[in-house]
Amino acid sequence: MVTEYTVERVKSGIQGFDDLIEGGFPKGTTVLVTGPTGSGKTTFGVQFVYKGAELYDEPGVIVTLEERSRDLRREMLAFGWDIGKYEREGKIAIIDGVSAVVGLPSEEQYVLEGNLNAEDFLRYVYRVVKAINAKRLVIDSIPSIAFRLKKEEEIRSVLLQFNTILLEMGVTSILTTEAPDPSRGKISRYGIEEYIARGVILLDFVEKEVELKRYLLIRKMRETKHSMKKYPFEINENGIVVYPSGELY
Ligand SMILES: Nc1ncnc2c1ncn2[C@@H]1O[C@H](COP(=O)(O)OP(=O)(O)O)[C@@H](O)[C@H]1O
Ligand SMILES: [Mg+2]
Repeated sequence: MVTEYTVERVKSGIQGFDDLIEGGFPKGTTVLVTGPTGSGKTTFGVQFVYKGAELYDEPGVIVTLEERSRDLRREMLAFGWDIGKYEREGKIAIIDGVSAVVGLPSEEQYVLEGNLNAEDFLRYVYRVVKAINAKRLVIDSIPSIAFRLKKEEEIRSVLLQFNTILLEMGVTSILTTEAPDPSRGKISRYGIEEYIARGVILLDFVEKEVELKRYLLIRKMRETKHSMKKYPFEINENGIVVYPSGELY
């Protein structure tokens, strides 16, 4: 008897992207999205959670550590994504990880305290994931968790614990980080993010004549056959659109 090897797939909600990864992310996986500023990491992560709620009836949690919840909601409206609507339906929860740090009051339902330790952070995210029975999670971004911790070195232990906790929660997660210099192979800030991630996606720019072109590269995706080609993508009024048969050069 042959035991069949099957992988349950989670659709990314990123137009054109699932064709590159056998139909979607392996369920329960942790994917690192890395790239320089403006490359589309926040959009990618929010699109994953938003489309999960809109198209696949899967609740999701957005942990925002670079923009306040209200700013994120407003910015995402430009893509026609009304996050507030799904929050009211209990399908999306945003955890505001900014207001307390910058000393602004927050009327949000889910707010992280300013001065965190690793355990508080993990426990809080865990609680909100359970509260809405989330299947999707985005944490934007890892470097900003580190800056928020009482001791920045604790980021390593947070990441290692995350690894276990994310698996146990059964959510499919996107973590964002910044790649200072991807062309030299440096794709994460702490050098540890890529080890806990079962997938790594690089978003970057390439110079073409007088213009910068966006491209996406799947550097790693466990349990998945994928190419190592650089694929062009766009951010337009619908969010991120990937062109699987497009040419970059
Ligand atoms: N409504 C929009 N339409 C088209 N492009 C947009 C829109 N909003 C943002 N962008 C593009 O997305 C970029 C920001 O993407 P973002 O996901 O915030 O990047 P990162 O998180 O990597 O810094 C902007 O610099 C802009 O080029
Ligand atoms: Mg961002």
